[in-house]
Amino acid sequence: MSQSSWDAVDAYVQEQLFEPDATLDDALAASAAAGLPPIALTASQAKLLHLIARAHGARSVLEVGTLGGYSTIWLARALPPDGRVISLELHESYAEVANANVARAGVAGLIEIIVGPAGDSLRELVSRDAGPFDLIFIDADKQSTPEYFEQALALARPGALIITDNVVRDGALADASSEDPRVLGMRRFHDLLARESRQGRVSATTIQTVGAKGYDGFTLALVER
Ligand code: DHB
Ligand code: MG
Repeated sequence: MSQSSWDAVDAYVQEQLFEPDATLDDALAASAAAGLPPIALTASQAKLLHLIARAHGARSVLEVGTLGGYSTIWLARALPPDGRVISLELHESYAEVANANVARAGVAGLIEIIVGPAGDSLRELVSRDAGPFDLIFIDADKQSTPEYFEQALALARPGALIITDNVVRDGALADASSEDPRVLGMRRFHDLLARESRQGRVSATTIQTVGAKGYDGFTLALVER
């Protein structure tokens, strides 16, 4: 089993379970045309995030790493009319693409994209008491994930879910000799999760995934009440 069968299954699932959606296609096309890296979630992954947000009854969502706003649109579509998504993006040029994409999707009123280093933006959100958030999605530079998660905890309401993307990295997560800073980031993230779990602050699991974006995985953490 390898990439071609993972691609085929993702395509099959999309054909069976997804309505054609020109807005989302346009968002991906505009992101590609602007030169953004092709690292947005797959449709299947983004819909999982959307369904989790709906099942959780999320009203306030924080996203770390906007890219072209593809997952941001899926998240916004999960919210009630008075919901909100705050999404943090390092690159001004990516945020411009994302703002155009969310406007075309008709969800601009629900979404605020804040430009700058996510660590700074998160500190600012903590200092102005911008939380609490019901759902937080961390999908930015991988080496900083533990720091983002710590700040996310400060912004999460009790009972919140924190979902973190790209934690498995082709299986390198389990390689104690890896020197890849992104893998080291995800191993430090799991050290942090282990400490927070022992202290009863979170309960977490990591799920390995395969699909059109290869072999990776995500972590789901529940903030204990
Ligand atoms: C990369 C980042 C992502 O968020 C992702 O989903 C896949 C790859 C990357 O930086 O390589
Ligand atoms: Mg990602």
